[in-house]
Amino acid sequence: MDHFTYRGGRLHAEDVPLARIAEAAGTPVYVYSTATLARHFRVFDEALAGTDHFIAYALKANSNLAVVATLARMGAGADVVSEGELRRALAAGVEPAKIVFSGVGKTQAEMRAGLEAGIAHFNVESEPELEALSSVAQAMGATARIALRVNPGVDAKTHAKISTGRYEDKFGVPIDRAPAFYARAAGLPGIEVVGVDVHIGSQLTDLAPFEAAFTKVAGLTRRLRAEGHDIRRLDLGGGLGIPYRASNEAPPLPFDYGALIRRTVGDLGCQIVIEPGRLIAGNAGVLVARCIYRKAGEGRDFVILDAAMNDLVRPAMYDAWHDIVPLVEPAPGAPVAPVDVVGPVCESGDTFAKARELPPVAPGDLVAFRSAGAYGAVMASEYNTRPLVPEVLVNGAEFAVVRARPTYDEMLARDRLPPWVG
Ligand code: LLP
Repeated sequence: MDHFTYRGGRLHAEDVPLARIAEAAGTPVYVYSTATLARHFRVFDEALAGTDHFIAYALKANSNLAVVATLARMGAGADVVSEGELRRALAAGVEPAKIVFSGVGKTQAEMRAGLEAGIAHFNVESEPELEALSSVAQAMGATARIALRVNPGVDAKTHAKISTGRYEDKFGVPIDRAPAFYARAAGLPGIEVVGVDVHIGSQLTDLAPFEAAFTKVAGLTRRLRAEGHDIRRLDLGGGLGIPYRASNEAPPLPFDYGALIRRTVGDLGCQIVIEPGRLIAGNAGVLVARCIYRKAGEGRDFVILDAAMNDLVRPAMYDAWHDIVPLVEPAPGAPVAPVDVVGPVCESGDTFAKARELPPVAPGDLVAFRSAGAYGAVMASEYNTRPLVPEVLVNGAEFAVVRARPTYDEMLARDRLPPWVG
């Protein structure tokens, strides 16, 4: 459920007509709904009520400070994968004790930053990383709390580019090697084992792979405890999918995911951490764009927007579907016809949708890409020297620009001519 609805025939974000935001901030522009973010956070929190837990929002989905601060005010922790994300989480007011640091290639500088901040734990992904963390912590006179990210060898049945739990994926340590890893970790200075971590992929639309992975984690936890390790926290990753096609997708609900967690690992008495990103931010955001031209092609029409693959790369990168809706509600029974919806970038991949059945979209009309709040703005670039797309946060009847569109002067000023060019 989200808060982007037609009222009086105009698409609103909460109480604000999106056209008003497009007017004020220009297009293309990302627009987020506070009420939707809050609702999604609460739904996860309630799904784990009664269980010792915290929700480490995966900043990679949407790391705008205003979004992270909104969630932090509600008690969210953070899953970060870089020093930049760590700095964002801290700047947004996330409690360090609720920050977990994930990622397959943390640098020593990133380890130091995490230790200085006093984060909850590091999710360690390899033996060499463990050794590096041990020496960094030792040099600082600090102790690094760790969980090993295990690779359970489970196929998440999602897009290959966002599947992480198969042995062929680069993530984690194969679960069979985990006991040896923990034995090594227990003897290393500067390291304190606190838990086990698993994350098998993103946009999962079925609970069965989670069940398989969490069951393996429960078995491993029992064994590690028997071998003398004080496993007291289980970080179960993120990955719960969202409906991108409102008409025909119904992924599992956080409530059922919570019940699954209790069923598989609930009897272990561990603190539970989950790292949802997409489910919190995805349907809390839209990308608003304007039609520049409509061009008749051979057997199809092209709707050419002022948004491009650099603003929303998911269709080009993952063949992802985003519902596209006009800001002015089509009359009931309005005709629809298949069109290709494209951006202005000089690549065929700059195509948002092919043969999409849309009501008439004419030059000047505004449209919204739905479910664009996660992995939208964060993956945007300035390709083609197009200014980075701005972001707006709505709260009831108010809205604020939470990241401004850079000016061309700002963009060009980042480059420098070397002395030999003059
Ligand atoms: N934790 C870890 C360790 C992760 O790698 C990820 C996502 C998450 C949590 C959050 O997963 P979520 O709840 O959002 O599914 N750019 C792609 C998605 C990449 C996901 C990467 N890892 C997309 O646009 O679909």
